[in-house]
Formats: sequence, C-alpha cells, structure tokens
Amino acid sequence: MRIERARGTRDFMPAEMRKRRIMEERMREIAEKWGYEEIRTPTFERSELFTLKSGEEILKEMYEFKDKGGRHLALRPELTAPVIRMYVNELKMAPKPTKVYYFGNCFRYEEPQKARYREFWQFGAEIIGSDSPEAQAEIIALAYFIVKSLGVKAELHVGHVGLIRETLRGANVGEEKINNVMRLIDKGEREEVVGFMNELGVKEELIDDLICLIDLKGKYALKEARDHKIVASDSSDALKELEMLLEILDYYGVLYTLNLGIARGLDYYTGMVFEIYEADGKLGAQNQICGGGSYRLAALFGGDDTPSTGFAFGFDRVAEIFPLETKDLKSMKVVVVPVREKNAAQDVVKEAIKIAFELREFFPTYMDVMRRSLSAQLSYANSINAAFAVLVGKNEMKEAKVTLRNLDTGEQEKLSVEECVERLKVGFDL
Ligand code: HAM
Repeated sequence: MRIERARGTRDFMPAEMRKRRIMEERMREIAEKWGYEEIRTPTFERSELFTLKSGEEILKEMYEFKDKGGRHLALRPELTAPVIRMYVNELKMAPKPTKVYYFGNCFRYEEPQKARYREFWQFGAEIIGSDSPEAQAEIIALAYFIVKSLGVKAELHVGHVGLIRETLRGANVGEEKINNVMRLIDKGEREEVVGFMNELGVKEELIDDLICLIDLKGKYALKEARDHKIVASDSSDALKELEMLLEILDYYGVLYTLNLGIARGLDYYTGMVFEIYEADGKLGAQNQICGGGSYRLAALFGGDDTPSTGFAFGFDRVAEIFPLETKDLKSMKVVVVPVREKNAAQDVVKEAIKIAFELREFFPTYMDVMRRSLSAQLSYANSINAAFAVLVGKNEMKEAKVTLRNLDTGEQEKLSVEECVERLKVGFDL
C-alpha cells in the first residue's frame, strides 16, 4: 500500500538537506557572534500556553489534541510563547538581558499553498528583559545582517503597533476588539476594518484617522502622523521610542522602510514591529520571510512583567530563495574500493576498512557493503558523484600503498595513505 505524506508536510532529499544545513550553520554562527545562546523547547506544549493570550479561536489554527491522560496539548505553532514559558520556569534568575536563539519546527493548521506549510521551521532570537530602542535595534540589525549574509534580496519594514493601538483606544475600542482590528489590518482587509469599526459605532473621522495612519509609509511617515495629528497625544511615548530606534538603526547601517501599517498576526506585540519581505517576487503571496517585535508575555505565564524583543525567520521560505545552487556544492566524497579476488577477500576488506577509518578523519568516505566487483564499485562511485576512488588490492597491500583514482580524469597514482590524504586535501581545496 502506497502511503502519501500528510498534507502540508514535506520530505527533504539529501541535496536540499545539504543546502538547509549550510543556511542553518550560517544563521547560528551570526547569532552566536552577536552573543545569543541556543535553547530548545518541546515540540508540544499545553494548549493554554497559546490560548491564554489569543483565546480559544487560535485552536482552529493549531494541531491540538488530548493525550491518553486527558491533557489538552498542542504542537507548537511558534516558539516565542514556549521560550518565555521556559524563561519563567527555568531562567528567571539568569542575568538580564537573557539573549537566546532557537531553530525548530512549528505546526499550523493552515491551508497549504506555495511557501505555506503545515510543518515548517523557524530560526529565531529573543532578547528577554528589554524592549528599549537599543534592544529593538539590535534585534532588527541581527535579522538584517543574517539576510545580508545569506545573499537573499529582501526589504525590511519597521512599524509600531503602539501607534495603532493608541489610536484605537482613543476611539474607545475595547482591548479585545482591538485585537480583532489588528488581525484585519494584518491581513490587509481594509474594507473589513472600516466595516467592523462602523459596527462598533466609531465616528467616521476616527476611522479615517486610523486608515490614514496605517497607510503611512516611508521617510516622512512620522512627520505626517504628527502634522495631521493622527497619533493621539498619549501615544507620543511610542513616537519618541520609534524615533530613537530609527536613529540607532541608522548607526547600524540598516536600510529600512518605515511602515506604520504593520499590525502582525500574533496578539502579543506591544511596541515596535518589523517584517522582512523577499524582494524578487519568487515566493508569491507568502513573501514574508521574517517577522518580529517587542512584546510582554512573561507575566501572563506567572513571571514578572518582562519586556522582550525578538524575531523569527520562516526558514523554509528563506531556503526557497537562498541563492546557493546544489550544483555549486562541491561533492566531497571518496569511495574506498576493496579489490578482491574471488574467495580470497577478507584481508583486502580488512585493510580497506582501516584505510576508510583514516580518510574519514577528513572526508566523507564510502565503502562497498554489497560485495560488488571492481567495475561495479567504480560505477557506483560515479553515480553518487564521488570525485575520487581509493583502490585497495593485494598489490597495494604488499607495497603498503593505495591507488588514488581521479574519477573525472581517470588519472591514478600509487601513494602511501598519508600522501593520499594530502593529495585529497588539495583536490578538495581544504
Ligand atoms: P510569524 O510572523 O507568525 O511570527 O512567523 C514568523 C515567520 O514564520 C513568518 O515571517 C514566515 O516567514 C514563517 N511562517 C509562518 N507561517 C508559516 C507557514 N505556514 N509556512 C511557512 N512559513 C511560515 C512568529 O511566529 C513570532 N513568534 C516571531 C517573533 C519572535 N516575534 C517575537 N519574537
């Protein structure tokens, strides 16, 4: 019986995995250089972790279930809530700010489409203990330089949900309804925003103010918000914070577009928000490769109120546009070929195993496990794109040597194992 993959999931072939591994390592390396330490949380959590902030509605978008003990669990749809839960439970006493990064799979019960999956991976970082403009700028700059180092063409947009929330509060929209409006803004559903505000009985001019605010984009967005008095006076703290943040981003040399219409899909953001979009149109509608911002979740999970700032990359989306082609990846494979004469094989195999051990110190090394003939072993070596074969036969054994064969050119020479290693290092550019 042929069994298909579950909807919205993927298999990754070796070439794809090689590429993903390169990306992952690059991301890790940068995060570590910026002083972030890796953490890992469980794949499933108690469902309340995700419903506490967003309400039962969110269950529709999650893989949630009861286990055999009747506990209500969910596969994690993202990693920020789990990281803050872990912080409250385990890391409260750690020096502040606590800077962590993570790489893990997430699950969302969404309609699968191009670059939108039900199982996908996130690479993210969080500064726990600060949402100062300095912390916000560092988080944005980290994401920005990760994108740059991967050679991906992208655009960074920075906004502030404080401005939108304050405008809504100024229009007497209740907290719960504010989240509804934010979600509509996030989805780009302008008409629905207006319709919903009308239903709530919000005055026409206040609705206009909101629409005007979320349309503000570019260099003069802040000035326009001020000049038109769109931003309520009690949110001026948000404005000041945003101004300071932008100034620091300039010191970092980060290029961004100010975009006051960013609302983000998750409910926990309190201040700065940012998104990075792929710039070449290769991802279609799902072009957001990274999202983040400032939030406060620790108090909700039983800890002290702790300002935090973070982001997560959609790793799969970045992988889809990562410019490294698999053919660019040098195949660093060596195949050790025991050349056995009929029925007299064991000493040659023994020697080949010993030599493979030595080569494995330096190179991915294969060895026959199917008792194949010399020519069958060489044709296998070719078919897996190995660059070199190391032949081990009776004659070589007598001379304590091996025959190194370049599978591209067919050239071969007899060498000691040490010489062979040196030759391979040169061949592989090591
Ligand atoms: P998010 O925007 O929901 O934010 O997800 C982060 C990134 O994950 C998105 O920008 C997108 O690239 C990717 N992503 C989301 N859903 C899918 C999907 N179904 N298939 C493929 N990729 C997807 C968060 O999750 C926040 N926890 C980010 C954060 C960290 N905020 C503060 N700290």
